[in-house]
Order: sequence, then C-alpha cells, then structure tokens
Amino acid sequence: MIRLGIDIVDIARLAGRMDTWPKLADRMFTRAEQEYCLSRPHPPQHFAARAAAKEATFKALGEGWPLVSWTDVEVVSGANRGRPTLVLTGRAAELLGGSTPVVSLAHDAGVAIAEVLLVD
Ligand SMILES: CC(C)(COP(=O)(O)OP(=O)(O)OC[C@H]1O[C@@H](n2cnc3c(N)ncnc32)[C@H](O)[C@@H]1OP(=O)(O)O)[C@@H](O)C(=O)NCCC(=O)NCCS
Repeated sequence: MIRLGIDIVDIARLAGRMDTWPKLADRMFTRAEQEYCLSRPHPPQHFAARAAAKEATFKALGEGWPLVSWTDVEVVSGANRGRPTLVLTGRAAELLGGSTPVVSLAHDAGVAIAEVLLVD
C-alpha cells in the first residue's frame, strides 16, 4: 500500500509569520532543520519546503497538528548529494507503523511544494 500527501506553501507568507512570531521556528522546525535552512543563501524557501513536507506528511498519515507535533516530522538534509530524507518520531512514528517515508521538495516562483509517500 502507498499513502500519499502533497502540500504547497507561500514562501513570503510563512516568512512573514516567522518574523511576526519568532517562537514559530522552534515550534515548527527541529534544530537541525533550522541550521540547514539558515546555512543556505535564501533560508525562507527552505523553511517553506520543510513546512510543506510536514503538512504533506500529515495528509499521508491522516492526522496532523495538534495531535502530531510539527517537530515529529523532520526533513534530514546534507547527505545523499542533497536528497532529503524524512525521519518520523512520536505520534507520527506510531501512525507510520512499518511504512517507509519518502519525500521530494521543490521551490520556485514564490512557492515551495512537497510530496510525501509512505510505502509499505
Ligand atoms: C537536484 C536538482 C534537480 C534540484 O533542482 P533545482 O531546480 O535546483 O531545485 P528545486 O527547487 O527543484 O529542488 C530543490 C530541492 O531538491 C532537493 N534535492 C537536492 N538534491 C537532490 C537530489 N540529488 N535528489 C533528490 N532531491 C534533491 C532538495 O530537497 C532541495 O530543497 P532543499 O535544499 O530545501 O532541501 C538539481 O540541483 C540538479 O540537477 N542537481 C544535479 C543533478 C542531480 O543530483 N540530480 C539528482 C536528481 S536526478
């Protein structure tokens, strides 16, 4: 079986919310995700892609925030020649069960998108 989720995030809108509410970064993104995004020349697009990945994962799992924490879904970057991987913990890992999560990200023209597959 394959569970599928997709999401799109307006990069400027998320950046505006993060500016307005500085606690949002810690609420939504793990320390490693923040370090990755802030290490890039244009951090907002990377934050938006990760926000989309979390929303897409919630859709695939069939349950999301607040029952699943944002940080229970982590996009891990920096290996595999840039290919991101998904690591699920907490309630997200319970809902994942024995499936394998797969993610793909893109950002362009003011938006970021993510597609997530949970494959048995
Ligand atoms: C990987 C590549 C296709 C990204 O395309 P792009 O148009 O520059 O950027 P996009 O906005 O579409 O996608 C960016 C996302 O691609 C993902 N990505 C980067 N390298 C990747 C790779 N090797 N495989 C899969 N996904 C990758 C990342 O998640 C990145 O977002 P992030 O930095 O926020 O994590 C491009 O850099 C490329 O052609 N690289 C060289 C060839 C290559 O490694 N190809 C692998 C896929 S066939």
